[in-house]
Amino acid sequence: MSNQTTPRLTIARPDDWHVHLRDGDILRAVLPYTAKSFARAIVMPNLQSPVTTTEKAKSYRDEIIAATPAGIKFTPLMTVYLTDTTNSEDVIKGHARGVLTAAKLYPANATTNSIYGVTHIKAISQVLEAMQGAGMPLLVHGEVTDPDVDIFDREAVFIDKILRPMRKDFPELKIVFEHITTQEAVDYVREEGAKAPLAATITPHHLLINRNAMFQGGIRPHYYCLPVAKREKHREVLVKAATSGAGMFFLGTDTAPHTRTAKESACGCAGIFSAPNALALYAQVFDEAGCLPHLEAFASRNGPAFYDLPVNKELITLEKIDQPQGDIKPILTGNGQQIVEFAPPSPSTWRIATS
Ligand code: DOR
Ligand code: ZN
Repeated sequence: MSNQTTPRLTIARPDDWHVHLRDGDILRAVLPYTAKSFARAIVMPNLQSPVTTTEKAKSYRDEIIAATPAGIKFTPLMTVYLTDTTNSEDVIKGHARGVLTAAKLYPANATTNSIYGVTHIKAISQVLEAMQGAGMPLLVHGEVTDPDVDIFDREAVFIDKILRPMRKDFPELKIVFEHITTQEAVDYVREEGAKAPLAATITPHHLLINRNAMFQGGIRPHYYCLPVAKREKHREVLVKAATSGAGMFFLGTDTAPHTRTAKESACGCAGIFSAPNALALYAQVFDEAGCLPHLEAFASRNGPAFYDLPVNKELITLEKIDQPQGDIKPILTGNGQQIVEFAPPSPSTWRIATS
């Protein structure tokens, strides 16, 4: 923090440990925003035609690199989408060759483009065994899909029904419990993450909105994501966990662009597009919690430590703004589709400094 009028904070350049970049026109429209704030990003494999093999991950990586704006240093870290028929040899070889950083477990039908996901954990036992041996992280969308389980309980039930048994069977498997939303998840990760290779990512939107926000004055499709936002008491627990600086929690925006028409629809898609302002919003949350000194751990250090990667050498500076930001314009894709950026209920109070 420097001069008295404008609080500023300089930290090692962060990474985003959970992004959806899509492909084609949307990729080209959204990638510059992620690459501006983050040096590296774990790229989710749930394209319409999912990234299910090392070869597909390699060509997707090439497409991302080709879409990266000139002069910007950005490294996409690729993931493979697990299915009931994933070939463990391909996954392990892809990891050994440096193409795959991690594998993603989507329970079938849990979220966007997850129809080819895993229908039962036994189907991927061999893959998990091999990943455990190779030290390759498993990234988990932690929600059960049983329609009898209430949507607000799906994460908590996943911990008991899937995660605990999985961790018993594969105690050394590195696991990231992605985009956690509940007190149950925070408690579980705190307890287990202290003694085992288990960590969690936390999104800016789950730190800033609770489930009421989705229905404030009417239905708010741009606040709809999966896992869905929970009660205020869960949001408060998430803020405490993220801002604590504890090594098992790190930044993963889960920025998930969909076109405005796909969001504002009778059956709107799940996903919040936060890439342009995510880092500033995290700074705001840490500032409001009185924990700015822990932002660097959460954003720039805990993730690399978990993934055994170096902390980025470059720096980035954030600053507090006096005037709240005005209305944010949607971004446009090359074919004229709009993508609406996440606007928290109260305006942002931080931004990335330009000099
Ligand atoms: O809200 C979400 N959107 N949650 C997910 O798990 C997937 C993501 C997407 O791909 O749109
Ligand atoms: Zn996601």
